[in-house]
Amino acid sequence: MSVHPGWPEKLGPLRVSAGVVTLRPIRLRDASTWSRLRIRDREHLEPWEPTGESPWDARHHVTVWPSLCGSLRSEARKGRILPLVIELDGNYCGQITIGNIVRGALCSAWVGYWVASDVTGGGVATAAVALTLDHAFSRVGLHRVEATVRPENSSSRAVLHNAGFREEGLLRRYLDVDGQWRDHVLVGMTVEEIPITVVDRLVRAGRASWA
Ligand code: ACO
Repeated sequence: MSVHPGWPEKLGPLRVSAGVVTLRPIRLRDASTWSRLRIRDREHLEPWEPTGESPWDARHHVTVWPSLCGSLRSEARKGRILPLVIELDGNYCGQITIGNIVRGALCSAWVGYWVASDVTGGGVATAAVALTLDHAFSRVGLHRVEATVRPENSSSRAVLHNAGFREEGLLRRYLDVDGQWRDHVLVGMTVEEIPITVVDRLVRAGRASWA
């Protein structure tokens, strides 16, 4: 098996109420859109994201992207992560990442995501998670994918529930988020729990359709 199965590949398209969702590898020319959306959406994103070492605007300045993108793509080539852009109708609107890919007897990873504030509520994140999970369990060859989410993050918990994740417990003071050690709900899914694909399950539930 290649050290980076499933990378770099495009996923989708999948139609949801907001439009057509596709996923693609991050690229250098995402710099200005990434910076503009992340700085504009600070209030929407910061309560749910790991605390950074420098101020928000500095961390998301357009000049930061080339080295960040380069190191993420380097990790992706080594098979450790899959950093993907979420596109809605062909436009960058967020990111989804499979991280900490561990092979061997674990064959596991986590998934994390964000979507720009002006396109929320239209099924974009749910579609992105479904496409990513199917990719993780097929092309990437993982056995388990997990995610952690703050109990207060109702919309993200709905996304994870609608994608078919199972809640596994509460991790006390798990992660430094928005300046404090925050509890997180751990959710998980293994390949045995998917009788059809995750996307098929969304389509059958009327939440998405093939584009
Ligand atoms: N209470 C309960 N449910 C809610 C609420 C609320 N206050 N607000 C929205 N929802 C529900 C919606 O009704 C919908 O569920 P439904 O389809 O059953 O009706 C669901 O939340 C949202 O589903 P989508 O439309 O697919 O999600 P969206 O594209 O709006 O993206 C996301 C959600 C990713 C959480 C976005 O709001 C975001 O980027 N937030 C900031 C960053 C963040 O929280 N990222 C996730 C961190 S946790 C992790 O990565 C595992």
